[in-house]
Amino acid sequence: MSVSINFELQQEMARVSSAIDKQFDLILAVPDDARAQLFQTMRHAAIGGGKRLRPLLVMATSRLFNVDDSCALRAATAVEALHVYSLIHDDLPCMDDDDMRRGKPTAHKAFGEAQAVLAGDALHALAFELLSDEDAHRDPFVRAEMVVCLAKAAGYSGMAGGQMMDLVAETATFDLATVTRLQQLKTGALISACVEIGAILGRVPVEGRKGLRGYAHDLGLAFQIADDILDVEGDEELAGKALHKDEAAGKQTFLTLMGLERAREQAQMLVDQAVSHLKSYGSEADLLRAIAKFAVQRNR
Ligand code: IPE
Ligand code: IPE
Ligand code: MG
Ligand code: MG
Ligand code: MG
Repeated sequence: MSVSINFELQQEMARVSSAIDKQFDLILAVPDDARAQLFQTMRHAAIGGGKRLRPLLVMATSRLFNVDDSCALRAATAVEALHVYSLIHDDLPCMDDDDMRRGKPTAHKAFGEAQAVLAGDALHALAFELLSDEDAHRDPFVRAEMVVCLAKAAGYSGMAGGQMMDLVAETATFDLATVTRLQQLKTGALISACVEIGAILGRVPVEGRKGLRGYAHDLGLAFQIADDILDVEGDEELAGKALHKDEAAGKQTFLTLMGLERAREQAQMLVDQAVSHLKSYGSEADLLRAIAKFAVQRNR
């Protein structure tokens, strides 16, 4: 990977981060009525911070197919809204009980549990509003396909299902195949949806999505292995969240099953495999390649 590509990734991350901040700032203007605190909680969680990896994936995939920038940004904001909702709920006392997220107090620490739950609910709904609204794409079939894609990735066959398995992983003994499925659902499904939505916006027929799907599948797994590795040996200041939580909770992860070194090798192998799925694309996919490398080299 050349230095210029890493530079491009940094630039794109900064550009997408500020565009997403701007979108949330516009959408979540605080109303002068009794809902103000709901908006404040949503703004606290959604604006500022985070790697914005999921929106970046939507943008980078859309670019392969010359998708209109405003459609791509709208879909990118939708997946980030869904992700932020998942983080707010993941941090609640009844889930991971965390105090810090993205270097700030978690939503429930700053605004209380009831408001955090509602802010999560409203961000979840916002994601689907953004994808189904007429402005999302002129073709209603494209809008419907994006909505179905995100719904599947968020629900019992995706993130919520994975979060359930993750809770069970605190007490059950899972084998490697089950932990792999857990990670695929919990984290991989939404990452895959980001790439898929880019392809949907690009009007790529299902038969033409094989390489991108392979890329996203391997990237999603590598990304969650990296999250588990960071939980063991990361820096809390850089990560912006409490670490060393998985072991304390007795949670089974790739690390507990294969140890740090093998998990690291596995993550790298998955990144190489992810990149190999993009071989039919030229330099226009360099950003996707750089994202895959970043997924395991990151320190936050
Ligand atoms: C954290 O996601 C939760 C996982 C699914 C591992 P990220 O590591 O993408 O968190 P942000 O968006 O950068 O804060
Ligand atoms: C959360 O996974 C995944 C979600 C679906 C939100 P983790 O619980 O490992 O994420 P962190 O470590 O709190 O960011
Ligand atoms: Mg969790
Ligand atoms: Mg957590
Ligand atoms: Mg974690």
